[in-house]
Amino acid sequence: MAVKSTMLSLTTLLLLSITTFMLLFGRPDTSFFFGGLSRKCWKTTVAEKLERVNAEIPRDWLLPSKVLEEGRGRREITGSFIESLLDQETLAITSLDNSEILEQTTNGSLTAVRVTRAFCKRAAFAHQLNHNLLEIGFDLALERAQELDDYFAKHKKPLGPLHGLPYTMKDQFHMKGMETTMAYVGWVGTFEGKKGTGKEGRVESELVMELNSLGAIPIGKTTLITSLWGGETNNNFLGYLWNPHNQQLSAGGSSGGEGAIQALRGSAFGFGTDIGGSVSMPAAFNGVCSMKPSWGRLSFKDTANSAPGQAVLPTVVGVMGPDFFTIRKIFEATLSTQPWLRDPDVLPIPWRKELEELPTKLTFGLLLTDGIVSPHPPITRALREVAEIVKSLGHEVVMWEPPSHNASVVIHPQIARGDGSPDVLANIQLSGEPIIPQIKNLFPGGKLRAPIPLPQFENATLYMKDFRKQYQAYWQSTAEFTRTGLPVDVVIAPVSPHAAPIPDKSYYYTYSSIVNVLDLPAAVIPVTLVDSKLDIFDKNYKPFTEKDRLTWQAYDADKFDGTPASVQILGQRWEEEKVVAIARMITEALKKSKM
Ligand SMILES: *[C@@H]1O[C@H](CO)[C@@H](O)[C@H](O)[C@H]1NC(C)=O
Ligand SMILES: *[C@@H]1O[C@H](CO)[C@@H](O)[C@H](O)[C@H]1NC(C)=O
Ligand SMILES: *[C@@H]1O[C@H](CO)[C@@H](O)[C@H](O)[C@H]1NC(C)=O
Repeated sequence: MAVKSTMLSLTTLLLLSITTFMLLFGRPDTSFFFGGLSRKCWKTTVAEKLERVNAEIPRDWLLPSKVLEEGRGRREITGSFIESLLDQETLAITSLDNSEILEQTTNGSLTAVRVTRAFCKRAAFAHQLNHNLLEIGFDLALERAQELDDYFAKHKKPLGPLHGLPYTMKDQFHMKGMETTMAYVGWVGTFEGKKGTGKEGRVESELVMELNSLGAIPIGKTTLITSLWGGETNNNFLGYLWNPHNQQLSAGGSSGGEGAIQALRGSAFGFGTDIGGSVSMPAAFNGVCSMKPSWGRLSFKDTANSAPGQAVLPTVVGVMGPDFFTIRKIFEATLSTQPWLRDPDVLPIPWRKELEELPTKLTFGLLLTDGIVSPHPPITRALREVAEIVKSLGHEVVMWEPPSHNASVVIHPQIARGDGSPDVLANIQLSGEPIIPQIKNLFPGGKLRAPIPLPQFENATLYMKDFRKQYQAYWQSTAEFTRTGLPVDVVIAPVSPHAAPIPDKSYYYTYSSIVNVLDLPAAVIPVTLVDSKLDIFDKNYKPFTEKDRLTWQAYDADKFDGTPASVQILGQRWEEEKVVAIARMITEALKKSKM
């Protein structure tokens, strides 16, 4: 009896302390109490990291609390709002096109230090308003800029074609002097979660080395969703990332921070990673251009990742920027360093100028709906606008009716997350940080799912290969009905059924995940803005599926009003040069049509 009541009171005590901790830390699972008591509370680690990162912002670049408050109260903080806060020099330099900046930094009329200071300052403002940087390297960047200026003074020529152009990257890439956390609290003070490796802050991703050797200057690392497995950006460092065009909507994910900082022009260009739309969606939602290549064009070497050993449907690096001049330049320049000599996972193919020479008559496929979930009215309007523009340039548009994209529903999750994501859970448990709501579905009941059996994985792989064959055969078969007698050149398609999503209200990722299943190059083009007067939902619309009904119900013309509406241009596998050339042609025609 005595033993029993002691046990009882011990249990009560345990329950009480669990309740107390839950009240304090809002944390429902129990690993914290058994494994975590001796560790520093994760909140302290976060506070220390943020304090260190924010100390990189010079005092006179700190925005007064009145301005921060005004920013929080506004719908939009891009364009005129952030620009009204800048001094003349910063505004003048960051308002130049990247082509103008490069002309001037490579002929010596604009110093790398001036350009870098301007972008660092604008990035500092963008971060204070939008919370998009997990790591800041302004001092390092200005040091590097001075080295570049010294180089120019001595040799009377630029270091390379990207001389003095500042960039940012999703916090998955390693840069010397900056920490990589991939948004895991447990990675603070470690190298990819491991302590005492001597690699902390010393490793540099291959792509970073290439960019730096070409004269580009890294200034910071952008926020992402913990684990990478989500279309909205949230983590325990910086919280939920709002869209700078419309702060009631999501900036998208997983490379949300990169999309947001590009929308605010906090850097000249940047990088995300993509296995199911993680570059294309945030680019589309934030109204910037992007290019997600097929596997093997840009190096992923020495870059942190989730499920890093999964090579059947690999993550790829994608570029974001204000225009396709920039995106083309980044590909051409990085490939000029012959990355395949240092990274066996890059194809030995330089940037092929011959693929950029477009015939006078092109054929565009137009995908208005995949028959599973139809896009919202502004996306449909954007698709039609691009179709009209290319027709006005003398090209042909045909309807795109490929094998059902529903194949992705079976293929993508089994291959991408067939392992049950044990790395994600282990990395979260390093610090005892809570699992953010957006990825709770990965761990039903807070527990690891069993991995799928290898034969099932191989079966899904076969299904994927078979689907690729079917899709390619369809693509080739279009030659039977095009006016040129050649297959469709590129496809105009939605990136997502909606503009930037309302938090928790995106139900369907297949318009972008199918692009990864097929490993096609995809360029995102911002076309127009949602217009609540034009973009009215047809009340008689009959949804195809339950997901369509949910997506349809989430449409709110007033909420979306003024938010970017974008499309993607898909090419056949490894046709990056052609896709970029066509995307550039379209964006230039759109710009002219709006003047
Ligand atoms: C450098 O290029 C800019 C932009 O094209 C031009 O205005 C300027 O005169 C050039 N300066 C020199 C020193 O060539
Ligand atoms: C898509 O595929 C899933 C899984 O095979 C299936 O349950 C669903 O009915 C399919 N939907 C459509 C619209 O084909
Ligand atoms: C293999 O995949 C096909 C197509 O999705 C499915 O019908 C079949 O049940 C799968 N077999 C196994 C063993 O997983």
